[in-house]
Order: sequence, then C-alpha cells, then structure tokens
Amino acid sequence: METIKIALLGFGTVGSGVYEIIRSHQERLRTLLGKNVEIVGVLINDKTKERHIDKDILVTTDIEQIFEIPDVEVVIEAIVGVEPGFTYLSKAIDKGYHIITANKELFAHKGQQLKQKAADRGVRISYEASVAGGIPIIGTLRQLLQVNSVVQIEAILNGTSNFILSEIRGEEISFEHALQSAQQNGFAEADPSNDIDGHDAFYKIVILFELLFGRQPKWELIRRKGIRNIRLNHIRLAESFGFRIKHVASLSYENGSVEINVEPNVVPEDHPLYSVEGVDNAVVLTGDLIGELKLQGPGAGKLPTGSAIIEDLVNIFNAEKQHRLVKDIDLKAGTANEFQTWFVIGNAVDPFDGLTLFENSINDQGKFVTARLIEATEGQVKQLLNKNSDLVIYPFAGKPSQPIKKAFVSA
Ligand SMILES: NC(=O)c1ccc[n+]([C@@H]2O[C@H](COP(=O)([O-])OP(=O)(O)OC[C@H]3O[C@@H](n4cnc5c(N)ncnc54)[C@H](OP(=O)(O)O)[C@@H]3O)[C@@H](O)[C@H]2O)c1
Repeated sequence: METIKIALLGFGTVGSGVYEIIRSHQERLRTLLGKNVEIVGVLINDKTKERHIDKDILVTTDIEQIFEIPDVEVVIEAIVGVEPGFTYLSKAIDKGYHIITANKELFAHKGQQLKQKAADRGVRISYEASVAGGIPIIGTLRQLLQVNSVVQIEAILNGTSNFILSEIRGEEISFEHALQSAQQNGFAEADPSNDIDGHDAFYKIVILFELLFGRQPKWELIRRKGIRNIRLNHIRLAESFGFRIKHVASLSYENGSVEINVEPNVVPEDHPLYSVEGVDNAVVLTGDLIGELKLQGPGAGKLPTGSAIIEDLVNIFNAEKQHRLVKDIDLKAGTANEFQTWFVIGNAVDPFDGLTLFENSINDQGKFVTARLIEATEGQVKQLLNKNSDLVIYPFAGKPSQPIKKAFVSA
C-alpha cells in the first residue's frame, strides 16, 4: 500500500497531538485514504527537550534536512509566530507540498499570500485548526457558502479570556486572581498579552473575514480591545441586570459594508453566547437562508486541535471542493450614526440627559457604583467618554437591541 509522507514543523501541544492521533488512528486513516500515513520528519527548536518520538523519524532543528527527505507530500505547521513559519511554508509550497497550519498569527498576516502561492503551484492549503481549535468553523462556512450569504458572525474565539471572565463571575475574584488561576490551570501563558489584549481573537476573525470575502480587511478599521480592564464590579453590575460580559469577536455584513469588532460586550440572557463558559469557544453565525447556527466546543487543546488538522489532511486527499463567496464590500469603522444600547458603568453626574433607559447601583466595598443602560450613537458615546474619562462603556452583542430596550422601558 502507498504511504503519504508528512513533515511536522513543531512538536509542542499541537504537534505532539497530531503525532499521537496519526499513530492511534492508522487503521481509520487507511480506510479513509486507502494509504498509510506516516510522519517522516519533525522540526523542533530545542534539541535538549525530552520527547517520545519513534527513533525512525528524523528529528531536527534544521529545516533544510526536512526538505531533503524524499517523497514528502504534506507539511503540517504548528510553530508560534509569523516567522519562521512563513518562510518555511513558502518554501514548502515551492517544493510542491500540500500545507496544513494551526498558526493563526501567521495565517492572519500571510494567509492571502500563501493561498495565492498555493493556487499558483497547484497545491492545497488548509487551516481549520487556526480558528477555534476543535470547532469545525472553516469547514462549516465553506459548506454554507455554497448557497448562503453569511451576514453575521458573533464568536467567543479566545478560551483564555472566556475562562478568566467566567472565573471572575463564578468565584467573585479580581481580574488578577482569575488570570493567575488561568495560568495555574495551563490556560494562559506566562506572558498572557496575546490572549487578554484581544490579539488572538483578532487574528481569528481576520481569517474568517478572508474566507468569506477573499481578501484582507483593513486592520486599522477593526476595533480591538481585550479584557485586561474588566473589573469584578463591572461583572456584578452586569449581572444585576441579568447580563454577562463576554469577549466577542463580531463581523456583520449589511448593504455592502462589513463591520468587525473584537471587544468585551454585554450579553443578555437570551443571547446564544451567554451560556458559553470556561475555556470553551463558540461561534454563532447567521446565513441569509439558514438563519442562526451556533457551534460550541473546545477552542484549543492537544487532541481537539490535532483532530482539526487530521480532518484537513483527510480532506486534502479526498479532494475537498473550495467554495468562496466573493462580494464587493467595504469595511466600515463602526456604526457611528446608529442608535444602539450601551452598558455604562460609573458615577459621573448627569451626563446622560435623555439617554438613560434604566439604571441600577451596587455597593462595592462601601462605595455605590452605578450602571445604566443608555440608548445613544457611537458619536454620543465618544463625547460622554471625552467629558467623563472614568466611565466604562460596553457595547451589546448583536444588533442594536430593541428587545432589551422594550423590556427595560416597560419594567
Ligand atoms: N495550543 C493549542 O491548543 C492551539 C490551538 C489552536 C492553534 N494553536 C496554534 O498552533 C501553533 C502551535 O501551538 P502550540 O500550543 O503547540 O505551541 P507550543 O506548545 O509552544 O509548541 C511550539 C512548537 O514549535 C517549535 N518551535 C518554536 N519555534 C521554532 C523554530 N524557530 N523552529 C522550529 N521549531 C520551533 C517548538 O519547539 P521546541 O519544542 O523545541 O520548543 C515547539 O515544539 C501556534 O501557532 C498556536 O497559535 C494552538
């Protein structure tokens, strides 16, 4: 029987998961592909680390040795950062190898270039694992896009941030303690900035945009905020209204324009992201025909992410069709003139003339802190912030929220 030979770049959480799955699923892969699947080379960075890799496999720190292995058909990349992955994958495409990557930072920056290069060279490039780990969001979007236009995505794409927000709320602890807990549980790096400042979720929504519209968005028009400044009392105040605060990456398409935001949102109880807790990821997408669809599950981890990579591998050899909806679109920077509902925390005196729908206060260590629901345009919100720099203002997930307005006005 023929053998598909694979080179694996990176042998950390993801790389070692891929290795384990290929070993444990030999029979299944043979049935699916009619061929054996074998890892023949592994690229690593640090030779001194102890690893359990079959002694017949070349393990090296030298990419040229990997490229010298004969008859490799696929390169799976699970390194961190744009380089050296981009250089390695570019060269692998030149050599005619199919490519699979889990590296969202690399793919957000260089995905378009790599896709073009792969198309020119006639090889396949797959990246399911780069967005939401084990959740099959790329495959689902490809399938839907055959007939649907995807008009909205709202997603929790960073499990670390979601875990921290769940911990703050569930355990009634500070952001700093929740971050420590995430680090102790192995959900956050020693330098957590990539997760808690929103970069990771930003890269993932950029990748989804590119899949939908076939081009890079203008990064400077995407609002990116992380969860670093969220305090326990914000979460308690939101709860007093029946809301939760979630870190949401959203993309919405309307009248030829797309808006993308990556930031903490206030989420009401009937919103599909409300119940997504802990390290889970979830993607809620709306297609013009299918309506709303929610996918929820592990956004990271050795086996879920490895599973997404192996699905890509099988699809490459089972001649998956490429589907893409290319539309004429603009990326817009926020809905500056539309009225929306906002959740405003702070005690500033009466800057809310005519805007407040409902307010509530909690006692926070002897001091009363007030939160208000207001109905305002983004321009008005900016003016409020200019006059009252102590205010903290969260947008709501979803569209400008009529049901919320009605519920509170009639309460
Ligand atoms: N962890 C997850 O659950 C997850 C989920 C989805 C996507 N991803 C993405 O998958 C990629 C890998 O993540 P991970 O969690 O597996 O990272 P990791 O555990 O830190 O592993 C990274 C691997 O890359 C190797 N490496 C780093 N720099 C290298 C270089 N210059 N040359 C050769 N090898 C190098 C490391 O080598 P040494 O072992 O020698 O240090 C290590 O084996 C990242 O891009 C990440 O964003 C991760």
